[in-house]
Amino acid sequence: MITIEGTVEHGDQRGRLLGFPTANIPIKNDDIEDGVWGAIARLGAGRWVPAAVSIGRRQTFYAEKGQRLLEAHLLNINEDLYGQTIRIALATKLRPQRAFENAESLMEQLRQDVQQVHQWSLSHFPPSPPQTYRESHAIRPVAFSYTT
Ligand SMILES: Cc1cc2nc3c(=O)[nH]c(=O)nc-3n(C[C@H](O)[C@H](O)[C@H](O)COP(=O)(O)O)c2cc1C
Repeated sequence: MITIEGTVEHGDQRGRLLGFPTANIPIKNDDIEDGVWGAIARLGAGRWVPAAVSIGRRQTFYAEKGQRLLEAHLLNINEDLYGQTIRIALATKLRPQRAFENAESLMEQLRQDVQQVHQWSLSHFPPSPPQTYRESHAIRPVAFSYTT
C-alpha cells in the first residue's frame, strides 16, 4: 500500500465552499499516479479515519498547468488540521482525474466518490455491533480485590 506523510497546508478554500473541505499535503513523488483513491488517514496516535483522496492538478479549474496536489477529504471530520502531520495510506483506486464541465458536475461526482469510500470503509471500520437486551442488562463482574 502506498503511504504518504506530510504537514497539512491551506488550500484555496474552494473545497469548503463546494461542501468538500480537504486537507492538502504537498506531494513530490512522481511514482504515484494521479487519480482518486479510497484511503485511510492517520491523524494522530491511534486516530484513523477513511478519506476520499485526490491526487492531481484540479483540471476543472486550472487546465493542465495547476500545481500537483494531494487533497484528502476526511469522512466525518470537521476540524482545521492545518499544520498537523498526517499520514495517508492509499488503499483502493476509484477512478482517474477528470476535467468537469463545471463545479456542479464535479460536486455530483464528489458525492459519489465519498459514498463509495463510505461503503468501502464499512468493511474496514465496522460499526460496533448493537448490544442485545441481555448484554446491556448483564451484571458486570466487579474488579477482584484481594485481601491478605
Ligand atoms: C475525492 C476528490 C476527487 C476529486 N476529483 C477531481 C477531479 O476529477 N477533477 C478535478 O478537477 N478536481 C478534482 N478534485 C479536486 C477539487 O477540484 C478540489 O478539491 C477543489 O477545487 C477545492 O480545491 P482547494 O482544496 O484548493 O480549495 C477532487 C477532490 C476530491 C476531494
